[in-house]
Amino acid sequence: MDESVRHTCVVGLQFGDEGKGQLVDHLAATANVVVRFNGGANAGHTVRLGESRFALHLLPSGVITPGTTNVVAHGVALDPQQLLAEIDQLAERGISLTGRLLVSDRAHLVMPWQKAEERLLEAAAGRLGLPVIGSTGRGIGPTYAAKAHRLTAIRAGELRRLDRLAPKIAAIVTLQNALLTTLAALSGSAFEPFEVAAVLAALEPCAARLAPYLADTASWLDTALADGQTVLFEGAHSALLDVDLGTYPYVTSSACTPLGLGVGSGLRDARVDRVIGVLKAYGSRVGAGPFPSQADDLAAARLRERGQEFGTSTGRPRRCGWLDLVLAGYTARRCGVTGLAVTGLDVLSDLAEIPLVVAYDLDGQRLTTPPAEAVDLAACQPVCEMQPGWRSSLADCRDWADLPAAARAYVARLAATCGPVAYVCVGPRREQVLPLPATEEIAPRR
Ligand code: IMP
Repeated sequence: MDESVRHTCVVGLQFGDEGKGQLVDHLAATANVVVRFNGGANAGHTVRLGESRFALHLLPSGVITPGTTNVVAHGVALDPQQLLAEIDQLAERGISLTGRLLVSDRAHLVMPWQKAEERLLEAAAGRLGLPVIGSTGRGIGPTYAAKAHRLTAIRAGELRRLDRLAPKIAAIVTLQNALLTTLAALSGSAFEPFEVAAVLAALEPCAARLAPYLADTASWLDTALADGQTVLFEGAHSALLDVDLGTYPYVTSSACTPLGLGVGSGLRDARVDRVIGVLKAYGSRVGAGPFPSQADDLAAARLRERGQEFGTSTGRPRRCGWLDLVLAGYTARRCGVTGLAVTGLDVLSDLAEIPLVVAYDLDGQRLTTPPAEAVDLAACQPVCEMQPGWRSSLADCRDWADLPAAARAYVARLAATCGPVAYVCVGPRREQVLPLPATEEIAPRR
């Protein structure tokens, strides 16, 4: 490892599910602190440890690595029940977070009415002909909306004073029941109004259990940096789901690039020395929205089967297709990627030829950057370049030189558009992460 590298951010360059958890797990071995700064339990990070598989949604993937301190910073939309369930799940498997987890007292809580609002709003939008995002239903959008509205938002720190929070919740429940009843009527869905006593009864045990973890995490991070600790930032979701830079409105509601690290953690992104952009060797997307490189049904089914492309959060089958270098080149630039981690290569190992999307045709024009409007992106005709396949398993490769020449050529083609390659992953296990030396062959200059 380059000794000058202190603080790293890992970010996905596509629509999520690139295998970021594996990279965070790998890099956590050299980090003292792992930080989540955006999104909520709509994220799903899978980490494998031997034969064990951990599906994390809110906790940073560093929790699996002994000796790391893990921070859920204020940019995260925090579902307290989900967080506690993950803590319990790890405890059952012998992993204790006592003294190793800090949760920002400024993080906004996901409350049950925000999940109801998400469900009803999507149903109403569908009825009225508005775009339906295909949300994971974890209440993330309404929680960030409440944060921006301010009046009805609740932050984790408020759990310290339930005597003050109880009357606020009573007022919010009155307001939400009125709004949601109207929304339910519009959407033609059933809605059971919330009861204050039940909400408080569910929240009280969470408040008691979360209290020891609550902290001013931004100030804590200042001290950790001053003490010379090494920090790893784990970007959730991915750049194409970024609320500003992604395929809006088919995105999530937080800033998913290193640009969101500053607002979400309280540290300036300029303090990060290395940005690892995780790039899956093919494409996948879960939920609605344009996906120009989507493969035909047969090819998509093969990719889904070989790559086990089913949602970590919802179990939904993912749409599958080819790697889109128009989109990936765009996000690599926006994220300021200093090194790529190419994942999922082995999923392509049975193919004689692999299509790569290198441009779009839209209304007679050739495009090499994505158009702003989702409707235009959906109308783009992909222009493909065919790459030769390697038709042999990569699972036992342990070094760049072990890869077949065609696999190395494929990786080099990705590097030509998206930047130098720092890692190639040939399978989901820890020993299948291959760090690469930065040579000209695999890191052509852009
Ligand atoms: P929401 O943020 O749960 O409302 O979801 C908005 C859109 O982003 C939906 O299409 C989701 O399927 C997608 N999405 C959100 N988070 C992830 C993720 O971590 N991986 C893949 N897709 C995601």
